[in-house]
Amino acid sequence: MAATDNEEAATKKSKTKTSEKTEPAFTLELKASGVAFLVIDVKGEKVNILSSLVMQELDAMLDQLHQRKDVKALIILSGKPDNFIAGADVNEIRNVVSPTEGAEKAQLGQALLQKINELPFPVIAAIQGACVGGGLELALACHFRIARVHPKTRIGLPEVKLGILPGFGGTQRLPRLVGIKRALELILTGKLVDAEKAGQMGIVDKVLPIDHHGFMKAEAEEFAVAVLQKFKRHAYENKRNVKRLQSFLLESNSYGRNFMFEQARKQALKTTRGHYPAPLKALEAVRRGIGISLQKGLEIEAQLLGELIATEVCKNLISLYSLTEELRKDTGVEKAKSEPREIKNVGLLGAGVMGGGIAQLLAFKGLNVRMKDIDQNALDLGFSRAEQVFQKAVDRRKLTKAKMERGMSQITGTLDYRNFDNCHLVVEAIVENLEVKQAVFQELEDEVDDKTILASNTSSLSISDIGSKVKKSERVVGFHFFNPVHRMPLVEIIRGDKTSDETVVTAVAFAKQLGKTPIVVKNSPGFLVNRILGPYINEGALLLEDGATIEEIDRAMVNFGMPMGPLQLLDEVGIDVGHKVAHILQEAFPDRPAPSQILEIMHHDGRLGKKGGKGFYLYGGKKSTVDPDVYQLIKHVNQSSKFSEQDVQNRLVFIMLKEAVLCLEEKIVRHPRDVDTGLIFGTGFPPFRGGLLRHADNLGLDKCVEIMRELAKLYGERFEPPKLLLERAEKKETLREM
Ligand code: NAI
Repeated sequence: MAATDNEEAATKKSKTKTSEKTEPAFTLELKASGVAFLVIDVKGEKVNILSSLVMQELDAMLDQLHQRKDVKALIILSGKPDNFIAGADVNEIRNVVSPTEGAEKAQLGQALLQKINELPFPVIAAIQGACVGGGLELALACHFRIARVHPKTRIGLPEVKLGILPGFGGTQRLPRLVGIKRALELILTGKLVDAEKAGQMGIVDKVLPIDHHGFMKAEAEEFAVAVLQKFKRHAYENKRNVKRLQSFLLESNSYGRNFMFEQARKQALKTTRGHYPAPLKALEAVRRGIGISLQKGLEIEAQLLGELIATEVCKNLISLYSLTEELRKDTGVEKAKSEPREIKNVGLLGAGVMGGGIAQLLAFKGLNVRMKDIDQNALDLGFSRAEQVFQKAVDRRKLTKAKMERGMSQITGTLDYRNFDNCHLVVEAIVENLEVKQAVFQELEDEVDDKTILASNTSSLSISDIGSKVKKSERVVGFHFFNPVHRMPLVEIIRGDKTSDETVVTAVAFAKQLGKTPIVVKNSPGFLVNRILGPYINEGALLLEDGATIEEIDRAMVNFGMPMGPLQLLDEVGIDVGHKVAHILQEAFPDRPAPSQILEIMHHDGRLGKKGGKGFYLYGGKKSTVDPDVYQLIKHVNQSSKFSEQDVQNRLVFIMLKEAVLCLEEKIVRHPRDVDTGLIFGTGFPPFRGGLLRHADNLGLDKCVEIMRELAKLYGERFEPPKLLLERAEKKETLREM
């Protein structure tokens, strides 16, 4: 089942409903050889989606085909060169409200695909481009599959990422085709594979080499004619059996199977920490489907899909999916008139922690990088930082050594501005000092082309101030990566007072070129993410002051779904950095409570956090452990109140919510969705909760107001519900969907 489309497309779709009626998605063409082509091409859409309308049309088409005596073999292929079928319609999944309705939807899809399977002649899916979710389930219902090697050919079942399971037969047909272990690899992770890997796994019977000249009709017809001959058909079927034999030993006995299922369950629990029900239900569907008829297996699958589809986690994940789809199309400005400029050569100032990481990412993405520092040793360190990231990818077999070498050769180093005149964009990542940055930007301006974009990676300084000494300050923009650069998906694009639309549009497009998710943020202290994290980390320290233990505080947030708690996060960021940011925010917002004394104590004790080997935790051993000396250090402030996990979570979540709502009031972001995106991709806020604002919407804004008032009574004004929250609660509105 599952996977594509968004709200915008939904509106578009409803507008084109009439044209869909007149313009069919399917065409049938019969060749003299008796081989027919059923071509799917949903008009007006970039990708083919199995919406209800498309499925109804396919159903009618299959009824016709069941009657045809002149068809000897059928090939199902797409009329779109880089998309086979991208899955079911996400909007339809979003709208399902009850388990029964969900199960019925699955049954309809299953019955349709079963009709393909029961056609009285060989049916071949000819795959080029994305073949995911319902697309792969359709292909699995065919008797054979061939796939073309193509940059867009991606095959898999990503349903678990939307909080559901493959409900059009995927959990039943895939294990029967390729064995349980291989099927679980795809079903439980949502991972997509290319054509070659699909061939190795036994998902496709034949892999066609890359061909830049278009579609594969001729080769597909040749394949169909071949499988019309019994011995050729058996040869392909035998090949599948040989592949299946590899997993037969483990899977053919119940002991081996149980062991495998138990391992998979443990792994799923480890990665989901029990917050995502879909992988476990998918596992159940596969397990219960073993040794029973396909029909019975499909019934179980439909019922389990129904149980998932109406859950809050599923709706949250779908909302997150739609939000990222929206952002994928967002240019960064309303009604953009400017086109993004092409970026190939990038200058980089500063080869430090961030510079080294940024150089690696740029080179990995095929850009030419000119990295400058003021010191040869620093430059050498920058190269070795970039190399380390590449090397890790090679060690984990994510990259070949040759690709790493090619990447490293794209980075050149310099102590002066030679070749900066060729750069389309320069990223500045030098020390966090306004005067130094201003001087460097002034100097830089004379070394680059008139049109070069000047981006600063500052994490706390004002972009308008940094650009104030530059003659053409409309090309100055904030481009805030998060650390570690290769892993953190978010980039905050900060718009200064003078930044032009063209600069913003180019910065947004450039972030996407790097595979990142950009959000455009107003130039304001802490931008978005650090502004919200500041009070969160401070509240963690205040909880410690009040008597909660380090473990209790961090564990509560991990159990809430965060990757780590606030004190561990402070250790990761660096206590020195956290201390500095806390004071910057304090200066910017003098009415807010002062930073916790604990931050001062830890800072004055010279603790740096993880990078210095000790902070709240001790590092160096295999596992970090809480440093008991911290309790000695803070004993004069340490109170002895007791807190439940819920108390800790409430203080930490609602202090973030308050700041997030203030950011909405001050229009720090262009759209509420950007708050949720920023927190999910910049801090790891749990995706299954759909984002902080959505979490508040799900709780109910009335309830949020009530909890915050309670917290304000106990801990002070900082928890008083902000104006916008009160207004929305009053009007029974939500924060996210406005
Ligand atoms: P760092 O101290 O590791 O590196 C700074 C580098 O800049 C040093 O190698 C230094 O020699 C070099 N440098 C100083 N003046 C220079 C100049 N005039 N021209 C060229 N190079 C010069 O600093 P880090 O942590 O990499 O931070 C850099 C920037 O990135 C800062 O603005 C910081 O706020 C920002 N940032 C840092 C993050 C972090 O987690 N470290 C996260 C996000 C942003």
